[in-house]
Amino acid sequence: MRILVTGAAGFIGQMVVNALSARDTLMLNGRERRIAAILATDIAEQPLLALAETHRRVHALPGALSDPAVQARITEDAPDLVIHLAAVVSGQAEADYDLGMEVNLQATIDLINACRQMPKPPVFLFSSSVAVFSCAANDTIDENTLPAPRSSYGTQKLMGELLVRDATRKGFVLGRSLRFPTISVRPGAPNKAASSFASGIIREPLAGQEAVLPVGRDLRLHLASPDRALAYTLHAAGLAQDEIGADTTLTLPGVSVTVGAMIDTLARVAGADVAARIKPVPDAAIAAIVTSWPGQILTPRAEALGFVPDTDFADLITSHMGRIAAE
Ligand SMILES: NC(=O)c1ccc[n+]([C@@H]2O[C@H](COP(=O)([O-])OP(=O)(O)OC[C@H]3O[C@@H](n4cnc5c(N)ncnc54)[C@H](O)[C@@H]3O)[C@@H](O)[C@H]2O)c1
Repeated sequence: MRILVTGAAGFIGQMVVNALSARDTLMLNGRERRIAAILATDIAEQPLLALAETHRRVHALPGALSDPAVQARITEDAPDLVIHLAAVVSGQAEADYDLGMEVNLQATIDLINACRQMPKPPVFLFSSSVAVFSCAANDTIDENTLPAPRSSYGTQKLMGELLVRDATRKGFVLGRSLRFPTISVRPGAPNKAASSFASGIIREPLAGQEAVLPVGRDLRLHLASPDRALAYTLHAAGLAQDEIGADTTLTLPGVSVTVGAMIDTLARVAGADVAARIKPVPDAAIAAIVTSWPGQILTPRAEALGFVPDTDFADLITSHMGRIAAE
């Protein structure tokens, strides 16, 4: 089978391409299939070229998803599996409304249209986010809670979910929208996501640097490790469409933890001197976005479908420390 990964130069994209390249087969729609080729597309060219150089079956397709030449190549490639990760993250989509609409919404419309031209409907994974939800004050909700985003990013993701649901009903794709928890600990540099601090307060102190904490200790977050994000993505591809049914959106399980408990866990695992590198610098704009996100989400449907969360927050820190040590 052929696989398309959009946003392949991004954080999750590179993990997915590396993981797919390391295997010969993958479960797709209930059946084990051999991986023949992976088409990796992104506007960021350099990381794509590096992936294509490292892995024999990876082909780089640099360019914006809105570019008709990119769309034509995707249609021509006719992948059996589309993993759609390209996006602009929450802080950036809030700061630049037009860019958020172009990448998070229009590119998804364009990609579904490209799939419509293919001889067979591909399995289509859309990376959504728990930012589609909002609540009064960081409370506990469940996967059936009505989404009511309070950010442009969450709104664009929700619209994408609806498009995937309808495209599945129409038979254009075999859709699955995954509402990812906030990923922590994300390696690399801070990004423009409003939740960037959720990784920064662990990653930077462990690297000997100060980290800024823009929110209070009581804020709760629904988190998953990078390893879980990867495992969720591959697991979602393998599910049979019958198991998912018409309700193509899956809210993924996470670990619910307060910022205070995250800091205390860091102190326990890595030492109080490391945790002391976190400096509170309240930021009202970030606090306004993240306190409207749920602090805990109950996800019995996703768990019954085989999506298994991390055990606890210490797990997230030790898996990050293991990753750094291996580099
Ligand atoms: N990391 C998280 O905590 C998290 C949580 C929930 C959902 N998600 C979703 O998962 C997906 C991947 O997240 P990530 O953390 O890897 O993000 P990322 O920002 O690292 O990667 C996104 C990629 O999309 C590319 N891109 C942006 N505009 C593009 C365009 N017009 N055409 C083609 N490519 C374009 C970027 O260059 C980037 O490489 C995103 O859809 C994101 O919304 C991530």
